[in-house]
Amino acid sequence: MSQPTIQPNVQQSYALYRRAGTLIPGWTQLISRRADQFANGVSPVYAQRAKGARFVDVDENEYIDWVNAVGAVILGHADDVVDGAVKAQIDRGSIYTLNSPLEIELAEELVATLPSAEMVRYTKGGGEACAVAARIARGATGRDRILICGYHGWHDWYQAANFGVDPESGEYPFAGIEPIGVPQALAGSVIPFRYGDAAMVARLLEEHAGQVAAIMMEPARSELPPAGYLAGIKRLAQAHGAVLIFDEVSCGWRPALGGIQAVTGVTPDMTVVAKAMSNGYPMGAVVGSRAVMEPAQRMFISSSYWSDNIGLVAALTTIRELRRREGPARLQAIGEGLRAALNRAIDETGLQGVCTGLASNPALALDLPAAVDRRKVYTLFIQEMARRGIHCLTSFKATLAHGETEIRQTGEAAAEALGVVKRALDEDALDRYLVVDVKREPFRRLVR
Ligand SMILES: Cc1ncc(COP(=O)(O)O)c(C=O)c1O
Repeated sequence: MSQPTIQPNVQQSYALYRRAGTLIPGWTQLISRRADQFANGVSPVYAQRAKGARFVDVDENEYIDWVNAVGAVILGHADDVVDGAVKAQIDRGSIYTLNSPLEIELAEELVATLPSAEMVRYTKGGGEACAVAARIARGATGRDRILICGYHGWHDWYQAANFGVDPESGEYPFAGIEPIGVPQALAGSVIPFRYGDAAMVARLLEEHAGQVAAIMMEPARSELPPAGYLAGIKRLAQAHGAVLIFDEVSCGWRPALGGIQAVTGVTPDMTVVAKAMSNGYPMGAVVGSRAVMEPAQRMFISSSYWSDNIGLVAALTTIRELRRREGPARLQAIGEGLRAALNRAIDETGLQGVCTGLASNPALALDLPAAVDRRKVYTLFIQEMARRGIHCLTSFKATLAHGETEIRQTGEAAAEALGVVKRALDEDALDRYLVVDVKREPFRRLVR
C-alpha cells in the first residue's frame, strides 16, 4: 500500500459534535450525517473545505469522498463550471421580485432530458418535491390513498406509512422509525409495498379499488429492476386509474441523464428529481405529463424560495455539463473500475463476497455466517477505511472527479481494511477490533 495508514486525529470534529448535541436536537439536519451512521469516534463529522473527489475535515485530515453529500454531488465538489455560473448569477441577483426566465429555460431542458416530462414544477429538495407530487396526484384524481415503495422524505403524507408497521420488526417502509408527530388521522392513507412484488400491488389496488391516487416508487437503487417489473406496475396503475410516479431523487442522473425511465424504457406519469441535478445546490423538480400536471394550476402549491435563481442556474449548468462531459458513460467506467478494485481487495483477503450493483452505485456485500453481526462487520470496514483516509459507507457514490488515483488508493485501503475484518472474523473478535460504537441504521431502505 503506497498510502501510509493514517490514525486521524478527529478531536475537533467530535468537540463540535458535542456542542451540536446541546444546541441541535439530533445533532444534524439529515439523519445520514449523524456520527453513528459511520464509525462514531473515528470517522470525520465536520468538514472545512471540499474540492473534486476529496474533502478536508476540521482537523485538517484529507479524505477521498465516496458519499458525496449522499449523492447530491455528481460532477465533484466545488465544480469550477457550476460554481462559476452560480457566482455570476449571484452578481445578477440570487432572487428577483419578478420571475426569472431561467425557470422556463430549465423546464425546457428537463422536458428535453426526462422521457416523462411535459410540464415542470420546482422545489428546493427531494422530499419536498415528493410532497408536491403526492398533492398533484391526489388533486388530479380526486382520490386519497397512495401506494409507496422506497424512501420519499420526511413529510407527513409519507411518514403516515409507518402507522400499522411495527417500528422494530416491520419490514417496510423501513424499520426503526416511529411516526411520532404525524397525525393519526393519516393512518391508512399511505400503504407501503415490497419492491419487486407486483402481485402485492395488484392485491392492494383491488382492496382499495377506486381509491388509489398514485403509486409512488423508487424505480431502482443499486440494482436495475427485474425484467418486466416496472412495465407490470405501469399496466396496473393504468388499469386502476392511478398516477404512476417514479421517485428518481437518488437513482436519477447517474445511469442515464434521462434516469431509470430512460434505461428501462418505462415512462411514468410523473417523476421526482433532485439531488445530483444541481451538483449540491438546493433544487428539486416534479415533472410529468400535461394531463397529470396541468390540474396543478388549480392547487395551492406555492413557496417563496422555489423562485430562487441559484438552484435554477446550478441545475441548468449541471445537466449541460453532465451531457458535455458524457457523465453517465464516464460514471459507468469509474464505477466499473471501483467495483474491480474492491473485488480484487475481497479476493486478496480471502473473504467471501462481492462488490456488485449498478456501476453508478456499487455496493459491498460480504457473505457472512448467520451468527455474525453484519452491522459490526460493516462498521469495522467503515472504521478501517476512515483510518486510511477514505470516507465511505458500504455503497459508493462516484463523481466525475474520481479518477484512477482515487480508485487505486481506495482499492489499496480496502485490501487493508478487509484484511482487518478477516482477522477479526477469524479470531471471533469483532468487538476487540472495533474502537467505535456499532453503526446504527435509523431506517433500512426498501430498494437496495
Ligand atoms: C428516493 C429519495 N426520495 C426523496 C428523498 C428526500 O430528498 P431530500 O433529502 O432532498 O428531502 C431522498 C433522499 O435521500 C431519496 O433518496
